[in-house]
Amino acid sequence: MSADRPRITESRPERLGSARAIAHANIALIKYWGNKEGNLPYSDTISFNLSNCTTKTSVSWNRALPHDSVFIDGVELSDKKLERASRHLDRVRRQFGFREKALVVSENSFPMGVGIASSASGFAALSLAAVAAAGQELSQKELSALARHGSGSASRSIPDGFVLWHTGEDSESSYAESIYPPDYWALKDTVLILEEGEKAVGSSEGHKLAHTSPHFEKRIKENVPRRLEQIHKALETKDIGLLGVTIEEEARELHLITQTTDEPVNYLTDSTLKVINILVRKWRREGIPVYFTLDAGPNVHAIYPSEFTEQMLAVRERDLPGVTFIDNSPSKGAEIIK
Ligand code: DP6
Repeated sequence: MSADRPRITESRPERLGSARAIAHANIALIKYWGNKEGNLPYSDTISFNLSNCTTKTSVSWNRALPHDSVFIDGVELSDKKLERASRHLDRVRRQFGFREKALVVSENSFPMGVGIASSASGFAALSLAAVAAAGQELSQKELSALARHGSGSASRSIPDGFVLWHTGEDSESSYAESIYPPDYWALKDTVLILEEGEKAVGSSEGHKLAHTSPHFEKRIKENVPRRLEQIHKALETKDIGLLGVTIEEEARELHLITQTTDEPVNYLTDSTLKVINILVRKWRREGIPVYFTLDAGPNVHAIYPSEFTEQMLAVRERDLPGVTFIDNSPSKGAEIIK
């Protein structure tokens, strides 16, 4: 066997079985946008896990299966999506030295491909369930790095609460860890679902294009380091104003980058801009310390201290009737469930 081939050691089917895990999507305060080989980011990023945006995934390794089968929300994956999941299962097979295929059944509590990072909760839950079903254990750091290979942001859905993903220099050193537990700061993230359905250009393609934006270099060299400091300080002192201005700058810059790459992509819609306008010009001016952030999609994340929950309920019913909301608090990381 050549040295660069993955080493398949003797199979240990007696240890293989089934396991089920839950993981939460996360919202980035400092964004991961642009990557290098192996989903290595250009900078540290910071996020918190979202209590009501979950993926539950069961994995069963079985020597009788001729190939991997993956079901998400009742639909069997094929083509590129199946390949992506299967490549991730290959990583687990390689790491622990067996060949058996898997049956994967996954359920999301939220619609996929709408700017809530379903790939984050998806690959975090898949990683944990796949390793546990193989009768194995990894440290949280190792699990986070494994999840990162499936989807960069999935590395942040492994640890609890408020999470820092270290840029790292190589595959092992680029992983996420908890910097504060979920109950450290009672923030809310209400996701305003403005559009459902899959986006035309996925994040993976966007990451490859990011460096072609004329704004990318300044972002990585100056803006992100400054904002990282601001977010660390805002978290340390629980300063919602500092947190708010920083996440809004980040969200605007993410979309500036996507719109100015060699193959520009616009993820925002008229509804996105309308809602941001209401949030900034009405709700904030009425005294609610609410700030927006965005992922690579049209939906708006409204972030505010939980003591303003009642007021937020009232204004959103008044100004955005008929809009679907998902209310989240910072939550735990990935866990094994029954
Ligand atoms: C805009 O982690 O979904 O949500 O590694 O290709 O799966 P892949 O990308 P993904 O990118 C997330 C991008 C983002 C910002 C963030 O969550 O940091």
